[in-house]
Amino acid sequence: MAKFRKIGILTSGGDAPGMNAAVRAVARKALQNGIKVIGIRGGYEGLLNEDMIDLNTHKVSQIITKGGTVLYSSRCPRFIEREWQERGVEICHDHEIDAIVAIGGDGTFRGATALTNLGIPSIGIPGTIDNDITATEYTIGFDTAMNTVLSMVDALRETCESHNRCNVIEVMGRDCGMIALYTGMATGALAIAIPEIPFDEKYGIEKLASARKQGKRGLIAVTSEGMKPTADGENFSEHFVKEIEKTTGIETRFARCGHIIRGGAPTIRDRVMATEMGYRAVTELLDGKSNEVICYVGGRIKPVDINYALILDRMYKNKLAEHDLDSFTDEQIASMREICSDKSANIRRLYQMAMDISF
Ligand code: ADP
Ligand code: F6P
Repeated sequence: MAKFRKIGILTSGGDAPGMNAAVRAVARKALQNGIKVIGIRGGYEGLLNEDMIDLNTHKVSQIITKGGTVLYSSRCPRFIEREWQERGVEICHDHEIDAIVAIGGDGTFRGATALTNLGIPSIGIPGTIDNDITATEYTIGFDTAMNTVLSMVDALRETCESHNRCNVIEVMGRDCGMIALYTGMATGALAIAIPEIPFDEKYGIEKLASARKQGKRGLIAVTSEGMKPTADGENFSEHFVKEIEKTTGIETRFARCGHIIRGGAPTIRDRVMATEMGYRAVTELLDGKSNEVICYVGGRIKPVDINYALILDRMYKNKLAEHDLDSFTDEQIASMREICSDKSANIRRLYQMAMDISF
C-alpha cells in the first residue's frame, strides 16, 4: 500500500451539485487510512495562493446534503503554464501534500496530469453538470441539474396550458446537448434542439403547429445553449422563439434556465455516485495508482488513464491533433472509435425516440 502523509482535495471549473459528497467521501476514506486531508479552496488558484484548510471527519459532516462546493471553485488560467504548475508542486511539498484528488471537468484533469508528471500523484473525479466527458457515462451533478430543469419546465407547461402558449426553454450544457435531450424527453417537449443532431427547424415548427391544431394548449420546446447562433449571429433559442411566432401565430415565451441548474441539493443519484467515485479515488491512490479519472462505465466505477480519457474526448469532439493517437495501439484506437460511434448512435436513438412519440 502506498504511503501518504497528506492528501489534498480541490474542486475546479464549474461547480456541480454532488461535489461536496465527493469531498466528504475522499476525506473520510483517507482519514480512515490514517492520512491527513487538506481542503484546497478555490481550485488551482487556491493551491497557488496556499488557501488551505485541514479537513477532519467533523468538518465534512453534513456537507453531503449541500449543493455548490464548500471548497469553492475557480478558473485559474495561469495554471496552464509550466512555471505555475511547478510552483503548485513546490507548495504541495511545503505543505507535505503527497497526492491530490481534483474534482472537475477535462480542464481540471489536465491540471491533475501536470501535477502527476511533476511528481505529485493525482486522480481526477468527473464533476460537471454537462455530462460531457466521453470516457465516463456519468458526471457528478448531471442528475440534479436535470431534475431542476424538470421542475422548471413542468411549471412552465402549467402556465402555458393556462394561457394557450408555447415556451422555449434553453438549458446549459456548453457544447453538449445531453441535458437538453434528456429533459426534453422527460418533459414531453415537442421540439428538442441539440448541437449533436442537425435541427430541422421547419419540422419542429410544424410539430408545434400541428399539436396546437389538435387542441394541445401547453407547448414546450427545449433547446441547448450549445446550438450554433444563426447566420446573423443571433442566439439560436431567441431566434427560434421569433420563428415560431412568425410562422404559426402561436404566442411564444422564452426562458433561459441559466446557472440556477448548477445549484441545489444534490439528488440521491449524485450523492451516491460522488460517494462511490470519491471512495475509489482514494483506494486507487493507496494502490499506487495515479493520473486516472474515476469513470462510470457500463454500470460500474472504472478508473481510466487521464491521457486516454482526454484523447478519447478529443476524438469524440473531432478535435484530434496530428500525433494524438501515436502512443495508442491499433486495438485501443479501434475501441476508442467504437466508444465514440456508440455514444453518437445512442444520442441519435434517444433523439429519434423522443421525437417519434412527442405528439
Ligand atoms: P473544467 O475542469 O470544468 O473543464 P476548465 O476548463 O475551466 O473547467 O478548467 C478548470 C481549470 O483547470 C482551469 O482554470 C485551469 O486552472 C486548469 N487547467 C485547464 N487546462 C489546463 C491545462 N492544459 N494544463 C493545466 N491546467 C489546466
Ligand atoms: O460546465 C458547466 C457550465 O455550467 C456549462 O453548462 C456552461 O456553459 C458554463 O459552465 C457556464 O460557465 P460560467 O459559470 O463560467 O458562466
